[in-house]
Order: sequence, then structure tokens, then C-alpha cells
Amino acid sequence: MKPELQTIHDFLLINEHISANEKVQLISALKKADKDFSISEFKLERTEKVKRTTAILLEETIEELEQKRKAVEDTNKALQQSLNDLKGAQAQLIQSEKMASLGELTAGIAHEIQNPLNFVNNFSEVSKELLEEMLEEIHNGDMEEVNAIAQDVIQNLEKINHHGKRADGIVKGMLQHSRTSSGAKELTDINVLVDEYLRLAFHGLRAKDKSFNAALESNFDDSIKHINIAPQDIGRVVLNLITNAFYAVNEKKKLHLEDYEPKVSVETKKIKNLVEIRVSDNGNGIPKKILDKIFQPFFTTKPTGQGTGLGLSLSYDIIKSHDGDIKANTIENEGSTFIITLPEN
Ligand SMILES: Nc1ncnc2c1ncn2[C@@H]1O[C@H](COP(=O)(O)OP(=O)(O)O)[C@@H](O)[C@H]1O
Ligand SMILES: [Mg+2]
Repeated sequence: MKPELQTIHDFLLINEHISANEKVQLISALKKADKDFSISEFKLERTEKVKRTTAILLEETIEELEQKRKAVEDTNKALQQSLNDLKGAQAQLIQSEKMASLGELTAGIAHEIQNPLNFVNNFSEVSKELLEEMLEEIHNGDMEEVNAIAQDVIQNLEKINHHGKRADGIVKGMLQHSRTSSGAKELTDINVLVDEYLRLAFHGLRAKDKSFNAALESNFDDSIKHINIAPQDIGRVVLNLITNAFYAVNEKKKLHLEDYEPKVSVETKKIKNLVEIRVSDNGNGIPKKILDKIFQPFFTTKPTGQGTGLGLSLSYDIIKSHDGDIKANTIENEGSTFIITLPEN
């Protein structure tokens, strides 16, 4: 019994004013109070224990949460870092796509420059011979002949100048292509632009792969006036489409199907106030299940080193920035047509 209750108990026992019966009742009450007290004490102790355990658990939980928060923070940092890395890699890929397309162009450009160079070389040789003849005629005093030769030389020099300028134009175009586009729009003859890239891409491929050949068809609508575009950018789009078309027909050719004649055609057409450019091939077409992916960045079905998967996604961005549209029509095993529409002005 608790000492305080014990004191009361002892005092009760010796108290003469309380009857024996009452004493029994009081002592029984005391014992019950003592028991209740003990129980309460026990309960209190248990509650304390629970409180202490809860506090410890809470502390642990807080610690755990803090660790988790740190982990999330670290993950965020890592994610940010990989996002930055990805952005860097993407910029690099865009650059390499550009360089790859320049590579495709180089052989074509070399081919295109060869013609004017041949003219320049031939005509300058002929002119030298003519001038030697002229010296002779001066010596002979035949002024009529001297005059005639001088006229020929003048004509030759005009031709040399003309072809020199053509080569100059081709080189300038090439330099423009390798530079970052300013995106500035200027009035451009779309037919000339498309024709130029068609020939460059074709001769570029031919120079790289002597066995490559395809029928080229072009159909230009002369009623199209100059349209306001960023020529380098639209040039890249056309080049991408044509390169893809050549790739597709070349792949099909490798299957050695009977009667297969690879063909790529390019067409421009004015429809109301829109200009349409179509690039078609009779390759293998685009399987339905990938058709909605081809304009996504990095999507490619070509082996590493042969495709970056950026051609169509860049083309899409360029066409959209011209308020135009680009879409693909395709029939499996029969070929594809890419259609670009641009506002006329
Ligand atoms: N003319 C086409 N014929 C068949 N498939 C094509 C054609 N043009 C594009 N594709 C498909 O679209 C994909 C993406 O093209 P693109 O963005 O130019 O990237 P890349 O040429 O580097 O693969 C190609 O890998 C190919 O699967
Ligand atoms: Mg491509």
C-alpha cells in the first residue's frame, strides 16, 4: 500500500471513535483506492513509454524524410544536368546534320563547278592561241584579220567571265549553306532554288556512289512569282526531302526487284494563294506504324552514321516558321510524296 494510504490505514485501526464495522468498510475503500492508484500509475507509466517511443519514431521519420528530400534534390540536380547535356547534344546533332548535308552537297557542288571551270580553261586556251595568231597578223599587216580575231577574243573573254561568275555563284551558295541561317526572308525564285538543290543532291550522291542512278523528273509551274522565304532554310528542307527520296529508291533498288526503275520527281504548283512543292519517290514507302513518328526529332530507321533523324523535324520547324505546312502521303511498297505548302507572299 502507498505510504500515504498506509498512514491513514494505521490511524484508522487505532481510532476508538470508529466502529469495527465502519473500519472494515473504510479499509476496504482504502484498499480499492490503493489498487486504482496503482493501476493509474501503471497506465501513466505506459503512456509515458508510448510517448517516448513515439517521439523516437517521429525523430526517425523526420530524419528519413530529410534524407528523402535530399535524394529528391540530388535527383533534380542530376535531371537538370542531363537536360543540359541533352540540349548540348541536340545542338551538336543539329550542327552535324547540317555538316552531313553539306557533305552530301560537296560532291554535287564539285560537279557543278567542273562545268564552268572546263569552259574557263578551254576558252582561255583558245584565246591565247587567237592572240598568238593576232600577233602574226599584226606582223603581216593584215588589219582586217587582226580586227576579226580581236572580236573573237572579246567574245571569248565574255564567256570566260560568264562562266567564272557561275562558279562564283555556286561557291557563294555553298558557303551560305554552311553558315548559320539568319532566317531572313527574301524574294526567291522557288523553281530555281528547288532545281539547284535537286541537281546538287543528285550529283552529290552519284559522286559518292557510282552505282547509284535514278530517273529525275521535275515539273515547275512558271506562273509562280518570287516568294518571300529564307532561301537557305527552304533549301535545306528541299535537300532533306530529296536526300530521303534518293535513299528510299536506292534501298528498294538493293532488293533487285524485277522491272524496278528508281524515280524521284519534284513538282511546284501554284494553288490559289499557296505554293506547293511536292517531292515524290517510288521507294518502299513508310510503314503505317511509324508514319506518325517521322517528324519527331531523332526518329530514324537508318543505320548509325547514315541518319540523324533530324531532317524531317528540322524541316517541320522551318516550314512552320514560314506559316506553311508539310505532310507525307505514302503507300507501302509503292512510294512516298512529301507535300510542302507555303503562302505565296
Ligand atoms: N521518302 C521516304 N521514304 C521512306 N521513308 C522515309 C522517307 N522520308 C523519310 N522517311 C522515314 O522517316 C525517317 C526520318 O527521316 P529524317 O527525319 O529525314 O531522318 P533520317 O533521314 O536521318 O533518318 C527516316 O529514317 C525514314 O524511316
Ligand atoms: Mg533525312
